[in-house]
Amino acid sequence: MKIPRWLPPLSVAAACVLGWTGAFRGQTAAPPTLAKDVQPIFDGNCIKCHGPKEQRAHLDLSAGKSFAMIVGVPSVQVDTLVRVKPGDPENSYLMQKIRHTAAQGRGMPRGFFGSSWLSDREIETIRAWIANGAKP
Ligand code: HEC
Repeated sequence: MKIPRWLPPLSVAAACVLGWTGAFRGQTAAPPTLAKDVQPIFDGNCIKCHGPKEQRAHLDLSAGKSFAMIVGVPSVQVDTLVRVKPGDPENSYLMQKIRHTAAQGRGMPRGFFGSSWLSDREIETIRAWIANGAKP
């Protein structure tokens, strides 16, 4: 098949635009960290049930405790999965809970009248932290 003459320049232009918008969406920025990016999400949405007062599902997500409670730690609900598997968000049970795809219990965060959702941005922040190795 003959490649139309306009196709290569158009592809280059498209790649530039995609790269450019990607940069503006923060994709080339430093990966999120637990302390700066992920812990505030736990503080705002999770620690009322997974914190100093209550540790639902034997899980404490408060600052200083969260790392040791999730990274490499088996889920109590599905013990073939760990809560956070560094580099593998899809097989991290915590990720499945916040995407409401977990095999057991409800989606997180839970509320009084059912489960709610974190924002897409918050979910993406946690996903990127795990994908980048879930460092302390
Ligand atoms: C209103 C209380 C409440 C809130 C808020 C809440 N959870 Fe939960 N969580 C629970 C309860 C109760 C369970 C066990 C039953 C279930 O899964 O529905 C649980 C289970 C879990 C589990 C499974 C633990 C395991 O080892 O299997 C994870 C992971 C989890 N929550 C993460 C979170 C995260 C992350 C947030 C915040 C985004 C959050 N939860 C907010 C009450 C809560």
